[in-house]
Amino acid sequence: VVLDPLDEVCLNKLKDMANVVYKPQDSQAIEKADVLIVRSTKVGEDTIGRAKNLKVIARAGVGTDNIDLKACEKKKIKVINTPDAPTTSVAELTLGLIICMLRKIIIAHNSMKDKLWKKNELLGNELAEKTLGVIGLGRIGTAVARLAKSFNMNVIAYDPNIKNSEHANLVTFDNLLKNSDIITIHVPLTIETEKMIDGDAIKKMKDGVFLLNLSRGKVVDEDALYQALKTKKIAMAALDVYEKEPYNGKLTDLDNVILTPHIGSNTVEAQRRIGEELVERLKEVFI
Ligand SMILES: NC(=O)c1ccc[n+]([C@@H]2O[C@H](COP(=O)([O-])OP(=O)(O)OC[C@H]3O[C@@H](n4cnc5c(N)ncnc54)[C@H](O)[C@@H]3O)[C@@H](O)[C@H]2O)c1
Repeated sequence: VVLDPLDEVCLNKLKDMANVVYKPQDSQAIEKADVLIVRSTKVGEDTIGRAKNLKVIARAGVGTDNIDLKACEKKKIKVINTPDAPTTSVAELTLGLIICMLRKIIIAHNSMKDKLWKKNELLGNELAEKTLGVIGLGRIGTAVARLAKSFNMNVIAYDPNIKNSEHANLVTFDNLLKNSDIITIHVPLTIETEKMIDGDAIKKMKDGVFLLNLSRGKVVDEDALYQALKTKKIAMAALDVYEKEPYNGKLTDLDNVILTPHIGSNTVEAQRRIGEELVERLKEVFI
């Protein structure tokens, strides 16, 4: 049973392997499902309790924080995901947003749409020689660091599980906050990372820092971020993820923020790879 939109090629491959119910309108299909496939739909204890035949929950994407893993463990339901597929897409979007912020591309575009020629007000900055702080140097963080290096950026990173990297100089969390011109977050959502960017962390950042979050919304305290954007302590932020999604909160009122609706892995290529990885992982479980 597939609860969220899925790449067509993947869907067809699944149909060759099994009886597929795509985006069912009622909950009866879930009750009979052997496998549940989701992207962002939450799978809580309720759903898991109702699905009497459930053996596998497959998350088309990286994080499994939308799935109640404890409830799965209790019922011996296997949880699989597709961790490698979105890396390039999220990393490329990150660099795109950094360029948008430093060169004020969205503001420039909007002013042109308003028939205004703001050339003199749109003084930007280069990426070269700026210090980029990467929080979480896993698959995506490393891909971002690699791309940033090709722009001649100085890349530092904080990750308690990584001791050295050819793509970034590893530093402490406080050192990263203090020395970065641009900070980008690529950690999973865990008890340790929830609200790791709060008012205290923001205070330690450089005045006029640029902040990006393409990981999970709850990693950043949105109220603290809102205040810091209002006072311009943070010059500009770019967010792809939010505490509550879909997001329509007060950050939409600010001009110094770029907001995208969780599109990090929304590319033809990533969706295709997610589909392929999903089919392979399901085959490993059942065949
Ligand atoms: N915006 C999107 O559409 C999108 C798409 C894919 C993934 N993501 C998010 O990006 C996150 C990262 O993905 P990934 O594939 O790079 O995961 P990954 O597991 O490869 O890397 C995460 C890294 O974070 C590190 N980490 C864990 N706790 C930390 C902490 N307290 N402080 C600093 N670092 C810490 C880990 O050691 C690891 O190296 C995912 O968990 C997911 O939440 C978002």
